[in-house]
Amino acid sequence: MLVAANREEARRMFDAIAPTYDVLNRVLSFGVDALWRRRLIRTLQPLAGQRILDVACGTGDLLIGLSQEMPGSLVGLDLAPEMLQIAARRLRKAGVDGSLVRGAAECLPFASASFDVVSVAFGIRNFEDLSAGLREMHRVLRPGGQLRILEFSRPRRGLWGSLFTWYFVAVVPKIGRWISGHPEAYTYLPTSVAAFHDSDSLDQILRTAGLKVSASIPLTGGIATLTVAERPPSVLMAS
Ligand SMILES: C[S@@+](CC[C@H](N)C(=O)[O-])C[C@H]1O[C@@H](n2cnc3c(N)ncnc32)[C@H](O)[C@@H]1O
Repeated sequence: MLVAANREEARRMFDAIAPTYDVLNRVLSFGVDALWRRRLIRTLQPLAGQRILDVACGTGDLLIGLSQEMPGSLVGLDLAPEMLQIAARRLRKAGVDGSLVRGAAECLPFASASFDVVSVAFGIRNFEDLSAGLREMHRVLRPGGQLRILEFSRPRRGLWGSLFTWYFVAVVPKIGRWISGHPEAYTYLPTSVAAFHDSDSLDQILRTAGLKVSASIPLTGGIATLTVAERPPSVLMAS
């Protein structure tokens, strides 16, 4: 079974599925993934001149949404050049003026405190080193800056949870393989979600990275979770 244990494997997998990534997102989630991203954007305050970084931006879905609601400068970063190429095309088509950078979340090529907002949607589960990725996001955020994380999670028990688990484990890999032509990427999806931290444990890791978590919002019965966090403002010492 494929597990994207390192960055090179993750890059290869996302490069391979890039051409069908968007269509599969819409088909497999029945369009709900777009609502989740919109929900993330709605938790942010639109302020003129903000500097926004979307980590693991993929094909640019969240960047395009952010550009419509948040005035400011936009940067997207991702490991996979094929995903970035599609993002570049989509941003151009949507008339979005953002920069795209190839790089890894664990060593962000940006100055400290250089962003007001950092977001990551369906990316952290794939990081080779989650703690390093979070430390880097903390570093590039200015004190008081906003962090938003959207990620799949395990739904609550009960009928909805059982139904979703069956769909995720039995149906998604088959449709994913059929449309993407990739033998393992859509088996990796439910496997990696099952192996990832639950929201309590993720919140703890965020706190250890120096971030303040103000809410963990379960979406669609807990299929996904939106984490609302910030880099705490710096405390000025009176002399
Ligand atoms: C499931 S896609 C999500 C893309 C996009 N954020 C979205 O909402 O559709 C995960 C993305 O994370 C990227 N990725 C995985 N590990 C990464 C890392 N360590 N640093 C930067 N990007 C990474 C992959 O290349 C891929 O484009």
